[in-house]
Amino acid sequence: MVRIVALYGSPRKSGNTAMLLSRAVEGAREAGAVVDCFYLRDLKISPCLELYGCKASGRCIIEDDFHKIADAILQSRGIMLASPVFFYTVSAHTKIFMDRCQSLWVKRYWIDAVPFGSKDYPRRGFFIAAGATQGKKLFDGVLLTARYFFDAVGADLWDSLLVRGVDAEGDVLHRPQDLITAQEKGKEFARVLIESF
Ligand SMILES: Cc1cc2nc3c(=O)[nH]c(=O)nc-3n(C[C@H](O)[C@H](O)[C@H](O)COP(=O)(O)O)c2cc1C
Repeated sequence: MVRIVALYGSPRKSGNTAMLLSRAVEGAREAGAVVDCFYLRDLKISPCLELYGCKASGRCIIEDDFHKIADAILQSRGIMLASPVFFYTVSAHTKIFMDRCQSLWVKRYWIDAVPFGSKDYPRRGFFIAAGATQGKKLFDGVLLTARYFFDAVGADLWDSLLVRGVDAEGDVLHRPQDLITAQEKGKEFARVLIESF
């Protein structure tokens, strides 16, 4: 059975990225994956405090809801992450969660001693982002951040869905093709994981 973790990174639970991710989750379930969903805004997750208590075992020593997600990630074969573009990077909820994943980076590269640059990933990532504007560089920041985040948690970036020109909550409902694409990509993501693991 293939498990996927779906991370909702927007403060809006019915916002544009949430709607896209929900369709991707639907697609992944249709393909037979088990998907665990987490709304970051509902969880109590401290920012990283740079204590490096994780050096002992790869487990962050701050006891909060981060561990619910970290445990699910370690059991997963896929991660779907959705964030709005906020000031050309990911939302604060997403970034706080990502920083805590430094403990998983410590586990992968220091404790498990995976060589830097290794393409040997136990899982894969699918990234969804949405922004209000149309600029060529709109997704440059989030893509770089997402790529590095996925690497830290032992995933390569399988694919992304980047939607420009959506701002108000529900704007994406006027973009039916993007919603269909989200569902199709979610289904394809699960199929790829099921076939390769
Ligand atoms: C704090 C904040 C910062 C934002 N920064 C940007 C930005 O840098 N570029 C952009 O195109 N849109 C920006 N936006 C607009 C959001 O990316 C846009 O509304 C998006 O559709 C929100 O997705 P959501 O509904 O999933 O939260 C910003 C919105 C907020 C609230």
